[in-house]
Amino acid sequence: MKRILQYGIMILFYILLTACAGPQGPEGQIGPAGPLGPEGPQGPQGPQGQPGPAGKDAAFAGPGFAGDQTCSGCHQDIYDTYIKSGHPWIMNPVVDNTAPNISTTHIKTLPQGYSWDDVRYVIGGYNWKALFIDSEGFIITDAPGETGNASFLNQYNLSNSLLEKNAALVSFEAGVDKLAYNCGSCHSTGFNPRGNQDDLAGISGTWAQEGVRCEACHGPGSLHASNPTGFDMKIDRDAGACEKCHSRGSGDGLVVSNGFIQHGGSYGDLFQGKHVVLDCVICHDPHSGVVQNRSKGQATTRVTCDQCHQAQRGQHKVAPHASLNLACIECHMPRLIQVAWGDPERFKADFRTHAVTIDPTQISQFAETDGALLPEIGLDYACRHCHGGGFASVKTDEELLAAAAGYHSTPAEPSE
Ligand code: HEC
Ligand code: HEC
Ligand code: HEC
Ligand code: HEC
Ligand code: HEC
Ligand code: HEC
Ligand code: HEC
Ligand code: HEC
Repeated sequence: MKRILQYGIMILFYILLTACAGPQGPEGQIGPAGPLGPEGPQGPQGPQGQPGPAGKDAAFAGPGFAGDQTCSGCHQDIYDTYIKSGHPWIMNPVVDNTAPNISTTHIKTLPQGYSWDDVRYVIGGYNWKALFIDSEGFIITDAPGETGNASFLNQYNLSNSLLEKNAALVSFEAGVDKLAYNCGSCHSTGFNPRGNQDDLAGISGTWAQEGVRCEACHGPGSLHASNPTGFDMKIDRDAGACEKCHSRGSGDGLVVSNGFIQHGGSYGDLFQGKHVVLDCVICHDPHSGVVQNRSKGQATTRVTCDQCHQAQRGQHKVAPHASLNLACIECHMPRLIQVAWGDPERFKADFRTHAVTIDPTQISQFAETDGALLPEIGLDYACRHCHGGGFASVKTDEELLAAAAGYHSTPAEPSE
């Protein structure tokens, strides 16, 4: 406002000046361009528009959200792959008082005292865990009619064979009174931070469709659906398009506890490291994701590590690793992030980090001084999920340090 006022006064002053001036002289030479002014502050972000109406009128009102069923009519192949990935299943309405039919899993137990007719939505349940939303839109944190029970079991962790865990209820923010569901920006399509979905007091914001659907990435598609060649859809291959939900770096929201980075109330993730230069879709097919491929034993990414890093292919200082043909990600992308289960004694949780660089001189993952997360991977996480006992022999710090130094540039010594 102040800035506009300043400019206004300047323009007025200029007009007055030219009005009072005498006859105009010959035009002078154009002076050199002035230095670039300082960047102004970013204005406040405007509210996202309400989804416009679909159909004929939409041509005048701008595109609205058509829903992934509409897209499937013409893009059946993509739909069939995508519907088996995690994205559409992060937010599931409970219909007819029965458990949602998530493609991969079945939730068998609800928090004690609840039945399906008390549950409005299931959050997640595709891969790692599920939480539940009550009839007022709040995340269930307590038994019906109770408050303050900090040990109430409200989060359903799915079974995990890697950590030998059966499905079980655990506590998440248990006992917190009226925990709002303010997670819609990453869990829905056409999210608008204003208002409350279905007028439920506990839900912050509204959306056009539950879950991360086609139009969460491609933008509203009603116009394209009625005229595919007349209206192109957006395709954004930039990592930023994924990062708005899958955050990178160790900045805000990175919660470290229990020896792992947590996906908890405030969301945290770890994508820092040298691969920050790469777009996610170089490695990932956004429609298939990784989980469904992994469960079928298929390649989980479009490219393999050694397509770009040929020098390391098959180069192992440790002879048994070479004969086992250890996968690159076993050491370089350990499961340092906890979404549901984590076992700090085995340095293994349930979600891989993308911070690929290993520091061969570092054992612990956390700074000695303040327990802060270190940016490179230490040998605890790179090696001890195997060498902590179990899959492979227990190794001392010294043995690991000696083997890790120059790992790919030192020829393997024959093992005794
Ligand atoms: C009536 C059939 C039809 C429907 C419905 C439809 N599409 Fe398409 N879509 C097409 C056709 C045909 C093309 C190829 C258009 C072209 O080459 O100009 C296309 C192209 C695309 C592209 C690629 C654009 C590009 O620049 O390469 C995207 C992304 C897309 N559609 C997404 C969607 C989404 C999301 C929906 C649902 C909201 C949807 N489509 C609904 C027929 C359809
Ligand atoms: C910044 C985006 C973002 C926010 C905000 C967010 N999440 Fe998530 N959520 C994700 C992503 C991405 C995943 C996939 C796992 C991962 O990357 O950690 C996920 C996964 C989950 C899962 C597990 C799904 C499964 O299949 O196992 C649950 C449950 C969940 N989130 C609950 C919540 C709740 C509750 C909130 C709000 C208090 C929330 N999330 C806020 C992005 C977000
Ligand atoms: C998580 C984000 C995301 C979701 C969800 C998503 N897409 Fe895409 N889609 C992309 C990206 C990114 C590309 C470009 C991929 C590339 O370059 O490899 C793409 C490419 C496409 C293309 C053009 C290239 C091709 O593969 O034929 C079409 C058509 C398309 N998407 C349609 C759809 C439809 C239909 C849905 C829902 C059934 C959908 N997408 C869901 C991110 C997404
Ligand atoms: C609107 C938020 C949002 C955007 C944008 C988004 N994601 Fe996701 N992503 C999620 C959430 C939430 C989950 C957890 C889904 C679940 O477990 O049901 C997830 C899960 C995943 C998974 C693991 C599940 C699986 O199916 O394998 C992969 C891989 C993934 N996303 C990749 C991508 C890529 C690549 C992009 C960019 C092209 C992207 N995502 C864009 C929110 C988002
Ligand atoms: C250099 C290749 C590469 C890049 C770039 C990359 N990823 Fe991955 N990503 C992988 C590999 C490899 C896996 C592990 C696959 C497996 O477990 O088989 C993975 C796993 C994942 C998972 C599932 C983790 C789990 O343990 O279930 C998600 C979600 C994911 N990536 C999202 C992203 C997003 C979002 C980006 C961009 C910000 C990105 N990735 C960039 C290679 C990459
Ligand atoms: C599309 C090409 C590409 C793929 C695929 C790829 N990388 Fe990279 N990687 C890069 C680039 C580019 C850099 C940064 C190079 C640099 O800064 O020197 C890098 C850096 C690294 C580094 C750090 C190197 C250093 O000197 O600190 C490691 C470790 C690494 N990658 C491991 C992997 C692993 C493991 C995979 C498979 C999950 C993989 N990369 C897949 C391109 C790739
Ligand atoms: C995926 C599991 C796995 C990971 C990860 C792993 N190793 Fe191993 N390693 C093995 C197995 C299996 C053997 C052979 C049997 C044994 O020693 O138990 C082995 C053997 C060794 C040996 C003994 C070599 C010999 O000649 O007897 C050393 C030293 C070693 N690993 C170091 C490391 C270091 C350092 C790392 C991390 C940078 C690492 N390992 C990561 C599975 C793993
Ligand atoms: C047994 C664990 C282990 C496996 C498996 C492994 N690496 Fe490494 N890698 C290391 C260690 C340890 C270092 C650090 C060596 C150093 O800095 O002296 C490293 C370093 C690297 C670097 C940095 C440059 C260099 O050579 O030091 C790249 C790139 C890399 N690895 C890629 C890969 C790729 C690609 C694969 C799969 C083909 C792979 N690694 C498999 C342990 C492993």
